[in-house]
Amino acid sequence: MITSMEARNISVKLGGKEVLHGVDFTARSGKVTAIVGPNGSGKTTLLRAMTGEVPHHGQVSLNGVDVASLQPWQLAAIRAVQPQSSTIAFPFTVLEIVRLGLSAGLSAADSSVPLQALACVGLGGFAGRMYQDLSGGEQQRVQLARVITQVWEPIVDNAPRWLILDEPVASLDIGHQFTVMDLARSYAARGGGVVAVMHDLNLTAMFADHVVLMQAGQVAATGSPAQVLTNETLASTYGCPIPVNTTPPAEMPFLLPQARVALAIQPGE
Ligand SMILES: Nc1ncnc2c1ncn2[C@@H]1O[C@H](COP(=O)(O)OP(=O)(O)O)[C@@H](O)[C@H]1O
Ligand SMILES: [Mg+2]
Repeated sequence: MITSMEARNISVKLGGKEVLHGVDFTARSGKVTAIVGPNGSGKTTLLRAMTGEVPHHGQVSLNGVDVASLQPWQLAAIRAVQPQSSTIAFPFTVLEIVRLGLSAGLSAADSSVPLQALACVGLGGFAGRMYQDLSGGEQQRVQLARVITQVWEPIVDNAPRWLILDEPVASLDIGHQFTVMDLARSYAARGGGVVAVMHDLNLTAMFADHVVLMQAGQVAATGSPAQVLTNETLASTYGCPIPVNTTPPAEMPFLLPQARVALAIQPGE
């Protein structure tokens, strides 16, 4: 069985302008795949094309099946999507929001899952709170709990399920960033697939197995963190010097960005 998420030759036009130019993408189940790149490079658009939320040219397949041939309920049973931002206009409790994942996922019949998912994202005890009253970071974790609830079991009928996350740690403190990335890792370790748009390149190096670097609507580099996160690639993609070092023993890359002004000052000046 094919257990990957694949996109071939994806092009997207938004507002009359082509913003993705023939992108190829592969993510394997059992792995965390990170999509990184500067603001506006097309990360969200690529995710939205792959989840069918924007019209696109090209083909997307999930576990070897062309997603165009699947009904929305079939897709909802195998992959859950956390958008970059979610606005909820009505007064829902936290538990009501998370339970939306239960109904979307169909196969997650166990009604204890929403409470377990809340505990996983560090929100045990928040079930009865009003969603609107929570901080941005807490709301983001409620949304993640909803998404995890939808595809709670990483493998169903021998097929992997998929977590598709757009900047899941964007407004989280460092402790909760690790909570969420640990969750992503363990989902992949149990056989599921994880595709996440990431901004923090150090977290990406720590948690991703595979990195896709986007630039101006195209894939600039793809491979392991060590292959993609190099001085040359990052300088040309992000337009500023980002010295990359490595930590023993795994030679994991880590980045120590320096302000341009600091780089410009020579010793003795
Ligand atoms: N609805 C839209 N209409 C016109 N342009 C858009 C629209 N949505 C996004 N874009 C443009 O497409 C490009 C890619 O956006 P996006 O995928 O959101 O970037 P990223 O997630 O990498 O920051 C940007 O230049 C953005 O301005
Ligand atoms: Mg984005």
